[in-house]
Amino acid sequence: MNETRDPAYARRRRPVRHAVAAATLAGALPLAACAGDSPSALDPAGAGATRIANLWWVLFWISMAVFAEVMALLVWALVFRRRHDTRVRHGQPLRLVAVAGAGVPLVILVVVYALGLRDLAALGAAPGRDAPTVEVTGHKWWWEVRVPGVDGATANELHIPVGERVRVRLRTADVLHSFWVPQLMPKTDLIAGEVRETWLHAERPGRYRGQCAEYCGTQHAHMAFQVVAEPRPQFEAWLARLGSPARQPQTDAERRGQQAFVQGTCAGCHAIRGTGADARVGPDLSDVGSRWSIGAGAVPNDAGHLGGWIANPQTVKPGSYMPPQPVDAERLPDLIAYLRSLT
Ligand code: CUA
Repeated sequence: MNETRDPAYARRRRPVRHAVAAATLAGALPLAACAGDSPSALDPAGAGATRIANLWWVLFWISMAVFAEVMALLVWALVFRRRHDTRVRHGQPLRLVAVAGAGVPLVILVVVYALGLRDLAALGAAPGRDAPTVEVTGHKWWWEVRVPGVDGATANELHIPVGERVRVRLRTADVLHSFWVPQLMPKTDLIAGEVRETWLHAERPGRYRGQCAEYCGTQHAHMAFQVVAEPRPQFEAWLARLGSPARQPQTDAERRGQQAFVQGTCAGCHAIRGTGADARVGPDLSDVGSRWSIGAGAVPNDAGHLGGWIANPQTVKPGSYMPPQPVDAERLPDLIAYLRSLT
C-alpha cells in the first residue's frame, strides 16, 4: 500500500510538517525585515559599520562551529548509547568535558572579548581636530541639524563629505533618543543634560537612512533621518546654503504663500531664513522643498502630502506636536507652492 495515502501515516506526518512550516516561518521573519529600503548593518558603507559587521560575522561563524560541534556530540552520544559500546574507558569523559566544555569556550570567549575591546576602542576614537562637525538635537519626533559657526538649521537630513570622518555632537531637547545609521555607525544614545559624540564616515556617496533606536513615545517609528554622503565641493555648497537666506519667491502664488506663512500661524513655530520668521519650536523650513520626507519619514515630500500635513498633521502623525492649521482653502495652494519652492 502506498504509505502517503495511508490516513494513519498522514496523521503521523502532520506534526512534522507543522514543525517544518514553523521553522520556515521563523527563518523568514528576520529576512522580511531586510526587504525594501530598510538599511542593514550587515551591508556596511563606512568604517564604523564595517567593524561591527566583521565582528558580527566572526560571532556568527563561531556560533555555527559550536552548534555543529554540539550536534555532532549529540549524534555520537545517541549512537554510542544505542550500541552499549564499551570503547570509552575511565577518564575519557572527564577529559572531553574539560577540553570541549571548559577549554574551548574559554579560548573562544577570550578571543571574542579581545576583538570586542579592539573595536570598542576604534569606534570610540574621536576624529581629528580639523574634522567637520555637525550638531544634531533629538526632539519628539524629529532631528534638528546645525553646524557650529553657521547661522542656520535644517531637519532630518545631514550632509557629510564622502571618505572623511565627521564629528557628530548629539543632544536631546526632551527624552532619551538614539542616533543610529545602520550602514555607517552603531547607535549612540542621546541623554538629557549631556553632550554625546560620535562620528560618521561613508566610503561611497549615497543617502543612508538613519533611525531613532530608543523608544521615545508614540511617534518613535517616525523619527527617521537621512545622511547624505557627497563629494567635498557639494558638502561645502550645503554648508553655504545652510548659512544663507532661503530662496526668494519667484511667482505671485509663491509670494502670496510667503505672506501667508509669515503672517499666519506657521511663523509662530517655524523659521525660514530671511523672512523674519525665526521661531525654533518646530523644524527650520528654509530648505523644506528639498527634503526627502515630511514628518521625519512619515510620508513622502510632495504637494499632496504637504497639503494634507498642513491641514491636519494629526491624521498623518498622530501625537505630533503640530496642531491642525486654520489655513483658508484658497491660501493653501499658495502656501504649498511657496514651501515646495524652498530648495
Ligand atoms: Cu526618538 Cu525614538
